[in-house]
Amino acid sequence: MLSDKMQAALNQQVNAELFSAYLYYSMMNYFESKSLPGCAHWMKLQALEEMTHARKLEAFVNERGGRILLTPIDGPETEWASPLAVFEEAYKHELKVTKMINDLVDLAIKESDHATNNFLQWFVGEQVEEEASADEVVQKLKLVDSTQGGLFMVDRELGQRAFNLPPEFGGGA
Ligand code: FEO
Repeated sequence: MLSDKMQAALNQQVNAELFSAYLYYSMMNYFESKSLPGCAHWMKLQALEEMTHARKLEAFVNERGGRILLTPIDGPETEWASPLAVFEEAYKHELKVTKMINDLVDLAIKESDHATNNFLQWFVGEQVEEEASADEVVQKLKLVDSTQGGLFMVDRELGQRAFNLPPEFGGGA
């Protein structure tokens, strides 16, 4: 059984994951408007991944006899100075999400809620990947330094990103 405080905190994290999806959708639309289909594809899959994070949290809360109550999602930014600025913001956003996950773990430990702590460890690991994948693109874009040819190459590479739907969304694994 979840405490009221833990249930509220997990609900808040669902909102944060859905905001993340909304932010990445906004970035996807920015890239589509700039005719960078590979960057747009990367962001579309990132948004989808955020939806699966929200779903994971929802399923856990429900499994523990809790209740998910969706709340309004803030409007995301819509304009950026450059493709590099977009990915820098994505990286900064992931650092913020990591802090939120760490705070949730702290709360679970404080409440001796071992089940929630154990569940959250998946997110702890996931955030290492989330930070690394956004930072990898930041470093690539810095290397090509906004040259047209370099940007084209990075865009083509980001267009290769793949994502397998997890079981929560009807996927295989
Ligand atoms: Fe759900 Fe990108 O963290």
